[in-house]
Amino acid sequence: FSVNEFQQDLINWFLAEKRDLPWRKDQDPYKVWVSEIMLQQTRVDTVIPYFNSFITKFPTIEALADADEEEVLKAWEGLGYYSRVRNLQAAVREVKEVYGGVVPNNPEELGKLKGVGPYTKGAILSIAYNIPEPAVDGNVMRVISRILSIWEDIAKPKARKLFEEAIYELIDKEDPSSFNQGLMELGALICTPTSPSCLLCPVREHCSAFVEGVQAELPIKSKKKKPK
Ligand code: ADE
Repeated sequence: FSVNEFQQDLINWFLAEKRDLPWRKDQDPYKVWVSEIMLQQTRVDTVIPYFNSFITKFPTIEALADADEEEVLKAWEGLGYYSRVRNLQAAVREVKEVYGGVVPNNPEELGKLKGVGPYTKGAILSIAYNIPEPAVDGNVMRVISRILSIWEDIAKPKARKLFEEAIYELIDKEDPSSFNQGLMELGALICTPTSPSCLLCPVREHCSAFVEGVQAELPIKSKKKKPK
């Protein structure tokens, strides 16, 4: 397994094939942040119009910080999980007051903001600031479990840390933004939960699961037990 060739094949594919999505037009950390919060529980197709109108109404940290909560909730109507946007507004108010309106570019400060968990933190640092931090969600765990044949239950709380550690070894230090977005894009377009399109996959020769023919068995994902 060549880390270098894997990075190059993934990044070249991403740069050639990436979808033209509105949050990919620039690297504004505020827009990256809004898009990642929206995308956490909502599909890309649904997010697109909400993202566009939200950014038109609240184009900057300052605009969102100064807006009435009611108006902000209204712009989120239909997306659900309203704590996402309440936390987002509380956090941008803190960014305005404590950091002069500049989204922090270090993991410690960024991770302390309301609603910014490990995934969102890694996405902002890598996509907006080009800092080599992993951004691990369920899609990325699926892709990496197949590439490296990791037979760890991805439903377990400790799984994310394990995948983060694996990605620190793999992430491209020159272009962590394209690397992380390449993993997300691969998970969305090729390395799907069922019937992955391995014959179209740009990194299949680096994929342990494909080489062994076990891609359909990975990832291991136990059902969450219902609370009694
Ligand atoms: N899912 C999560 N983050 C994403 C992004 N930046 N682009 C496309 N899909 C995503």
